[in-house]
Amino acid sequence: MTRIGLIGYGKAGQAVAGVLQDDPRFELCWIARKSGDTATAIDVPVTRLTREGFGDWLDRHPVDGIVDFSDAGAIHVYGEAVRQRDIMVVTAISGYPPESLDYIRDLGRDIRILSSPNITLGINFLLLAAKILRRIAPFADVEIVEQHFRDKPEVSGTARRIAEVLDVDGDHITSLRLGGIVGRHEVIFGFPYQTVRLIHDSIRREAFGTGAAFAIEQLSSCATGFYTLDSLLLQVIRDELQNEEKISAALAASLDSSSLRDRLPS
Ligand SMILES: NC(=O)c1ccc[n+]([C@@H]2O[C@H](COP(=O)([O-])OP(=O)(O)OC[C@H]3O[C@@H](n4cnc5c(N)ncnc54)[C@H](OP(=O)(O)O)[C@@H]3O)[C@@H](O)[C@H]2O)c1
Repeated sequence: MTRIGLIGYGKAGQAVAGVLQDDPRFELCWIARKSGDTATAIDVPVTRLTREGFGDWLDRHPVDGIVDFSDAGAIHVYGEAVRQRDIMVVTAISGYPPESLDYIRDLGRDIRILSSPNITLGINFLLLAAKILRRIAPFADVEIVEQHFRDKPEVSGTARRIAEVLDVDGDHITSLRLGGIVGRHEVIFGFPYQTVRLIHDSIRREAFGTGAAFAIEQLSSCATGFYTLDSLLLQVIRDELQNEEKISAALAASLDSSSLRDRLPS
């Protein structure tokens, strides 16, 4: 069982904690937050994250991995403590400034660390699928439509990431703000005689927990380094395709040998 410490217990962290607790592959050992407020819906120790005390905390509450849903500053508080203890990190923080991303890449020289501003499996799968279609059909028109709840002020970071990956300009993003929509991203490929639509709907924040669990599980078998969720997902897809090729080759070989047997005189 992989022992996990969760940093951040806000809107996302609470949903992630529930997913990790329900998953038999993981043991959620503790939660660290800014305030150290111990009022949580689950029965695990809670600490306040501080640079001075965190190493001690880790020695008294050892874990194999850390999942971070706090804020961009936290990595600089716990980074050296996890580096010294060779603990894996999955950080889902969306708004790292460039210097924090540089620091995270530097941690990747000593530990396994994954940083993903979009941690859901569905969005990462959509990104890969859209990238492949764009490569196959660079002539197709591409539009990105994102829909979110009425009060979301900024253009979705995920939509901007999709535009970047597909190499289309930001003015091909249309943002709709409607009622309580959690989040919908749609990539539309317009061909002369057909239209392809790739759509991802966020239903609940628990999807962040599923993504973090996938990331930790994959990271466990990786070498020291810096990773992103789409790179790990791509590796899983590659492995699947290779398996299929092996199965097809074995099937073809067995068909060949049985048809040869049929042709041999008995
Ligand atoms: N990658 C993704 O797909 C994805 C999805 C959802 C969210 N996120 C990211 O996750 C983060 C949290 O989002 P949220 O909506 O849950 O925010 P939130 O409701 O404001 O919760 C933030 C949590 O982080 C804790 N925290 C803040 N600064 C900290 C620090 N320096 N050290 C330790 N704990 C700290 C807070 O502690 P207190 O409880 O003591 O206040 C709180 O528990 C954001 O960066 C967001 O971008 C990413």
